[in-house]
Amino acid sequence: MAKSDRKNAFVTGFPIKQSKSPLIHSYWLEQLGLNGTYKAVELEEDGFAAFLASIKSGELDLEGGNVTMPFKEQAFKLVDRLDDIAKKIGAVNTIYKKDGHLWGSNTDGYGFSANLDDFSSDWKPKSGQNKRAVVLGAGGASRAILYALSDLGFKEVLLFNRTFERAKGLELELGGPIQACYMADIDKGLQNADLFVNTSSLGMHGSDVPDLDFKKMAKGALVTDIVYSPLKTKFLQNAEHKGIKIADGFGMLLHQAVPGFEHWFGQRPEVTVKLRQQILSA
Ligand code: ATR
Repeated sequence: MAKSDRKNAFVTGFPIKQSKSPLIHSYWLEQLGLNGTYKAVELEEDGFAAFLASIKSGELDLEGGNVTMPFKEQAFKLVDRLDDIAKKIGAVNTIYKKDGHLWGSNTDGYGFSANLDDFSSDWKPKSGQNKRAVVLGAGGASRAILYALSDLGFKEVLLFNRTFERAKGLELELGGPIQACYMADIDKGLQNADLFVNTSSLGMHGSDVPDLDFKKMAKGALVTDIVYSPLKTKFLQNAEHKGIKIADGFGMLLHQAVPGFEHWFGQRPEVTVKLRQQILSA
C-alpha cells in the first residue's frame, strides 16, 4: 500500500500526559491547513532506543518529534547526527530525519531568546556593547539559556546556584563569559546587570523565592523567569513592583516548538497572541 502523504510527529517523555506540545502543533497544523498529526507517545525508560530505531527504519511513519524528560540525554547519545547547538548544550529536544539520518537539535535556547524578543527590542547586546546577565539555577534547564546568552554576545554571565559546585561545573564545561558565583554575592551581581533570568525551580506553584534587590539593576534592565506556573512568579512580581521591565516564560514553550514544526511539516509557523491565549486557557 502506498504511504499516505500525511506527515506525523511526536512528543515523548515520561510522564507525557501534561505536555502542551500536542495542542501547540495541532493548532498550527489546522491553521496552516496541513495534512499532519502530532501526538504524545508515552514510553518506559528502556523503550526509547527501540522507538528511535523504528523511526529510522521507517517501521513507524514519523518525520521526527520532541523529546522531553527523562529522554533528552539518551536522545543526545542515540541520534546519528547532532547539530552544533545540540553538541554544545549536551541534550536533544528535537529530532528530525534528513538525508537518511536521524538528527538531533536543541531549540530551548532559541525559544528563550525569541520569547524575550517579544517583550523587548533592546535586551540583547548590540555589537561592541557590554552587557551583563545574572542567571539563577544550574540545572538541566539552564544549559541552553547559558549557551544562548554566551552566543548572543553577553560579556558577563554570572551564574548563581544553591549548590555552587554545579554552577562551577557549568562554568568549566561551557566556558566563555560564564562565571560561577556564590549565592551570598547575588545582590552584588545584580548591581548594574542588564538581565536577570531565573532558571531554577524556585517560585514554582507560588513557592517562596529570595527577595532580590532588582532596583540595583541597570537602566532598562529586564527580569525573566522560565517558571510559568504561576505566569507572574514572585521574582516577576518583585521586579515589577520596583519598576523593572519583566517577561514571563510562557512564550519560551511556544517559540521552542517553531523549528521542529518547520523540520517535520515544511512550513515555519508563527507564535501569535491568539496561540498564546488558546494554550494558556487550555
Ligand atoms: P531542571 O532540569 O528543571 O533545571 P534540576 O536539574 O533538578 O531541574 O535543577 C533545578 C534547579 O533549581 C537547580 O539549579 C537547583 O539547585 P541545586 O543545583 O542546588 O539543586 C534549583 N533549586 C531547586 N530547589 C531549590 C531550592 N529550594 N532552593 C534553591 N535552589 C533550588
